[in-house]
Amino acid sequence: MSSEDLTREMKKAVGVEAARMVGRGDVVGLGTGSTAEFMIEELGRRVREENLDIVGIPTSFDASVLARRNGIPAGTLDDVDRIDIAVDGADEVDPAMNLIKGRGAAHLREKIVDGMAERFIVIVDESKLVDRLGSKSPVPLEVLPMAAQPVMRAVEALGGEPVLRMAVHKDGPVITDQGNMVVDARFDGIDDAGEMESTLNNIPGILENGLFVGLATEVLIGSISGEGRIEVERRT
Ligand code: A5P
Repeated sequence: MSSEDLTREMKKAVGVEAARMVGRGDVVGLGTGSTAEFMIEELGRRVREENLDIVGIPTSFDASVLARRNGIPAGTLDDVDRIDIAVDGADEVDPAMNLIKGRGAAHLREKIVDGMAERFIVIVDESKLVDRLGSKSPVPLEVLPMAAQPVMRAVEALGGEPVLRMAVHKDGPVITDQGNMVVDARFDGIDDAGEMESTLNNIPGILENGLFVGLATEVLIGSISGEGRIEVERRT
């Protein structure tokens, strides 16, 4: 198997395992990204084949399209007063289960939905584990378009390296589901993720940042054993 296929299998294993943790009647936060997609597909299978009665709360336009395609009844935060369980991927996970999210520019809605959940289960392959947040990934910032330049200067003043995220199959910058821009702020490792999360959100024009501190209740990690078998480890 190629390394891409192995990564895909690790993502699928944790996605399927997380979907099995959802119970009857649950309100479920539906995460965004390639790992969460496997979870949504398995949840859809359970809805169809096991008559699992759930309401999904998508964290992005993409997650709502996937929910519809997989036959999962979807609602909004106006329809529910709680979220029982949310399942979402991450770009980095540290030993305290703090995260960086937002590679897919969905971190604003993800933080609202994942942060409300009684149980927030993070699903990752082993490549996402780091000793210190910010060692590999930048911190994505959702930014009001008129504030992009002052925000980038403020990030530089904090010692970060800001880059306005550009679209790949469109000219110009990435525009989020809410019509905002994304600045990726690279720091050379973050010592105090909680303090950095608050500092960034205090910069006028930043609507949310991708540091998720103290929100995850469980992490499922997909890895490959010495014999080449896919294994899932659960951390709480
Ligand atoms: C979406 O904006 C992100 O927060 C994703 O949840 C995160 O980047 C993980 O994505 P993958 O599962 O595709 O790696």
